[in-house]
Amino acid sequence: MSTRRTVLVTGATGNVGRHVVDRLLELGADVRALVREPGAARLPADVGVAGGDLTRPDTLDAALAGVDSVFLVWPGLSTAAAPATVERLSEHARRVVYLSAMGGRDGERPVGFWGEIEGLIERTELESTFLRASGFAANTLGWAEQIRTRGVVRWPYGHARRSLIHEKDLAAVAALALTEDRHVGAAYTLTGPEAVSQQEQVRLIGTAIDRDLRWQEQPRAEAREFLLAAWGDQAFVDMALDGWAAMVDAPELVTTTVEQVTGVPARTFRQWALDHAADFR
Ligand SMILES: NC(=O)c1ccc[n+]([C@@H]2O[C@H](COP(=O)([O-])OP(=O)(O)OC[C@H]3O[C@@H](n4cnc5c(N)ncnc54)[C@H](OP(=O)(O)O)[C@@H]3O)[C@@H](O)[C@H]2O)c1
Repeated sequence: MSTRRTVLVTGATGNVGRHVVDRLLELGADVRALVREPGAARLPADVGVAGGDLTRPDTLDAALAGVDSVFLVWPGLSTAAAPATVERLSEHARRVVYLSAMGGRDGERPVGFWGEIEGLIERTELESTFLRASGFAANTLGWAEQIRTRGVVRWPYGHARRSLIHEKDLAAVAALALTEDRHVGAAYTLTGPEAVSQQEQVRLIGTAIDRDLRWQEQPRAEAREFLLAAWGDQAFVDMALDGWAAMVDAPELVTTTVEQVTGVPARTFRQWALDHAADFR
């Protein structure tokens, strides 16, 4: 990195953001974290902590003062506040790296909120990099309670093959995009190194914790009811279920973009399960 940059990391207490913070510190950046409750955030001592809420743009000015780049994680499914928030970012920062999703765009047409946010960013003067992620390996932490208590994962579409990505690989790409100029204008499709069926993911978690785990196929209607209660958005739930159903016949796309950007191959799901064994014990 040629000049010392000030980077604001949103979602800094989350799965990906906390590793973005670590990588940026390693790269010598000046790191500031946006958190809703500064008193509760446990972040490295070198990180400046700024209070603010992405869904309330008027709370962001202090956090954005003097910032060069922003790592943006959009919280929740509603984009009601997003136009004003993206506008606010563009008034202060020069660059944004947005944690988007694979499939968030069909050509120019947004699919879900990810594509909408990309479109808002494109309509500003901001230099941008979009990180279009496959599913996060960390999503399987949602199975942890079933695994701990019953040794069973009841979930739909066991044969769906997914190219889940390790949060550390997303963070490694994000940190480079925030601090190097060569990523401006890129939209990176970022995945794990292989597509692994959900049943196999459960087996690999079992291997990591040295326990035999069972897969129990959940009927779609039951899964839909559960997800509706958890996510509260019918269109998003159906999009997820249709996506998993499609991955039974056609595995999720696998790319080598993580390696092209970082020089290191993306971590496997087996590695992710070993890294997170304690979460499943
Ligand atoms: N899961 C997937 O498969 C997937 C795939 C592609 C893209 N994504 C995107 O990845 C992002 C989630 O990343 P993650 O898993 O690292 O996050 P996470 O672990 O779910 O944590 C959420 C983070 O967002 C912060 N946050 C929540 N509401 C906020 C608000 N109103 N204002 C400011 N900060 C807020 C939280 O901070 P505090 O609570 O400390 O304030 C926390 O740091 C989402 O934008 C999602 O769309 C996910």
